Amino acid sequence: MTPQSPSFRNTPGAPCTIVIFGASGDLTKRKLLPALYNLKVLGLLPQSFAVIGVAVTDGDDDAYRAKATADIKEFATRPVDDAEWEDFRKRMYYLQGDFNDVETFKALDAKIGQARADWSLPGNVLFYLAVSPTFFAKVVDQLGTVGLTTEAADAWRRVIIEKPFGHDLTSARALNENLCRHLNESQVYRIDHYLGKETVQNIMVFRFGNSIFEPVWNRRYIDYVQITVAEELGVELRGGYYDHSGVLRDMVQNHILSVLSLIAMEPPSSITGDSVRNEKVKVLEAIRPMEPEEVISNTVRGQYGPGIIAGKQVPAYRSEPDVNPQSNTETFVAMKLFVENWRWAEVPFFIRSGKRLAAHSTQVVIGFRRAPLLLFGEDVQTNSKPNRLVLHMQPDEGITLDIHAKRPGPNINLVNVPLNFSYSDFGEGTAATGYETLLYDCMIGDTTLFHRYDSVDASWRIVSPILDVWQALPARDFPNYESGSWGPAASDHLLEKSGHMWHHYPLKNGPFRTERESGPEGKNLA
Ligand code: BG6
Repeated sequence: MTPQSPSFRNTPGAPCTIVIFGASGDLTKRKLLPALYNLKVLGLLPQSFAVIGVAVTDGDDDAYRAKATADIKEFATRPVDDAEWEDFRKRMYYLQGDFNDVETFKALDAKIGQARADWSLPGNVLFYLAVSPTFFAKVVDQLGTVGLTTEAADAWRRVIIEKPFGHDLTSARALNENLCRHLNESQVYRIDHYLGKETVQNIMVFRFGNSIFEPVWNRRYIDYVQITVAEELGVELRGGYYDHSGVLRDMVQNHILSVLSLIAMEPPSSITGDSVRNEKVKVLEAIRPMEPEEVISNTVRGQYGPGIIAGKQVPAYRSEPDVNPQSNTETFVAMKLFVENWRWAEVPFFIRSGKRLAAHSTQVVIGFRRAPLLLFGEDVQTNSKPNRLVLHMQPDEGITLDIHAKRPGPNINLVNVPLNFSYSDFGEGTAATGYETLLYDCMIGDTTLFHRYDSVDASWRIVSPILDVWQALPARDFPNYESGSWGPAASDHLLEKSGHMWHHYPLKNGPFRTERESGPEGKNLA
């Protein structure tokens, strides 16, 4: 039975100790503890386990257990069962320490020993680095120095690393070299919370679990692909981080390129970590990095000004806490990319992402070519919209296939109708944090949903030339879009230039609509 075979996946992994660096942070209390608790309730945590929190904040085991009890009550995604939580709580430990001090890691080694003795655990340890990226290399270096990264027969050692993995290509390579001093690639789990989303994982099932889509999933039938990740939220309290990042680094380099590679990849020979990741990286490698003039013609950047979101006035990006009042950081990006291989040659992939946009919505729109003959006397302007497939990822989760139907009546009039599937129709979902699958996969050693270094490198190679041009030519028109809009006008023009327009389809509250329905788009099937 391989780690990825379905029967294996329904059983917990081997007993282990879970060490969380950054134990007093937001990610731990909002996502990691609730996710681990959910896994326990689902019977997917190992039969025996221990959780050790490490942070600089003062505290001891008792104080940490008390804090975790308060946190789980506030952030659990399901009602907390007293007996389940009691069993979880008593397996928690805390270590206060400075990550720069090797003594912290010697003390951690001893604490792991204590937990192992208390719960009869083997030497398996999962280290979760829920810390600032400035500590990634340091923490791994210290773990290596005290021997905690060394594996043995009954002792796997795995490290989950949060994003961002590097600030650019050079720093990503340097970070990876640092990690490689102590860890093999198979021990590094570069997490991307987008790959923990049900609907993102469903892309592979949709494409490769159905026989009817794969034959048309290519340049002969598909006219364009659009990926939108739109947020209504601004930078909230993360201005300090975001102002040195921007949306290209924050969303495109990781989440969006990963979704794009799932959409564009060839069928893998099996659903195992390396088969899937081999195919994903080939897609990224087929995206040719842009020349400077292509950056100017094929990308659009934006920064939000003040505006109205959900009926409330919101401030400009430059007025957000911890943001430089003259900031040139982009909060919106739109671009046109090409995957230069036989399947996708000349099919534009339009991607966009931004903060403070008109809706909170993540979706992929696949635009098909029009039928080769307009047999029904359609009015090209109004009725001959090509078929579209929409993969809704959030907030609604589902799939829409847009088809033509005959409007009832004596004449043949065509009308566009959506065939909708909504995940909520399953009616059995329990709210989850999105981290359950990823934590579980790490515990059973399934790397499929984690980034391998070659794909991180390939993504930075796509993004870096854009960052270089933007840095050399600072934007002069920021802020250039109103909060609550769909971004700068140049984003619409980018698509208009190639005869396209952005689509936005809410799954619910139909009827479906596009942002701007103006004239026909797309090519006929040749
Ligand atoms: C994070 C980014 O990775 O993803 C945030 O750092 C962004 O800026 C968030 O808001 C979006 O995630 P989701 O799951 O809400 O779409």
